[in-house]
Amino acid sequence: MSQQVNPAAPVLILLGPPGAGKGTQARMLEETFGFVQLSTGDMLRAAVAAQTPAGLAARSVMQAGGLVSDEIVLSILRDRLAQDDTRAGVILDGFPRTAGQAAALDELLTYNGQEVGVVVALAVDDHEMIARVAGRYTCASCGEGYHDQFKRPDVAGVCDKCGGAEFKRRPDDTAETAGARLEAYHAQTAPLIAHYHALGKLVEVDAMGTIDAVASGLRAVIHERGVSAQA
Ligand code: AP5
Repeated sequence: MSQQVNPAAPVLILLGPPGAGKGTQARMLEETFGFVQLSTGDMLRAAVAAQTPAGLAARSVMQAGGLVSDEIVLSILRDRLAQDDTRAGVILDGFPRTAGQAAALDELLTYNGQEVGVVVALAVDDHEMIARVAGRYTCASCGEGYHDQFKRPDVAGVCDKCGGAEFKRRPDDTAETAGARLEAYHAQTAPLIAHYHALGKLVEVDAMGTIDAVASGLRAVIHERGVSAQA
């Protein structure tokens, strides 16, 4: 894998509770800056749909709102990071989520001659997160994200991006599971904020504003830190 990695390729991390807007913002950054969004949630959902051994093991944990084992998550992420399209730089969306994942990421990046560039913590109230998660749906064809209240397609029932007319909701977006996911976030992921702060990597962005306002805050952080995609 080390031969395929571009050591100058930036690694951005988006931290935040469920519904903070990690996926929404990662997709916008991908379009604006040319980084590649790597969402461990999307990878796990793909594994569940494909009924791979990792997907079969992850399915019930995800449905209950818990965290999938570090071993499974790390194995799928390593495979994904070894692909050529990550050479320009990546946005890690939903990873790392535990101290063990953060340590493994450091080890992997060090091996590749890379390091974490900037870690953005998206700050959002718990009650807002439940509203965001409960109203979320995505285009079944291209995955573009929408919300019943905050982000509707321009033409009702038609995806703005690809024109698709089928949409889907995640099975873990119930109020009950969202509560469990939030608990897992506070217990296991939120401590990473202090970890990256101590390393001088952390920037907090207020994620309570509109999608465009949050995107503008993120772009400012990226410009200030001088992070840019590599050719
Ligand atoms: P994952 O898919 O990563 O879910 P999550 O972290 O719970 O985050 P979400 O996808 O729910 O929220 P988001 O922050 O991306 O918000 P979004 O942009 O969609 O993980 C799912 C599961 O997989 C986990 O529970 C776990 O089991 C497992 N897993 C994944 N990674 C793992 C790991 N590393 N280790 C172990 N297990 C792992 O926005 C939400 C909605 O709000 C959208 O409808 C959007 O349109 C809207 N919205 C976004 N921003 C705004 C805004 N500023 N104002 C108004 N509405 C907004």
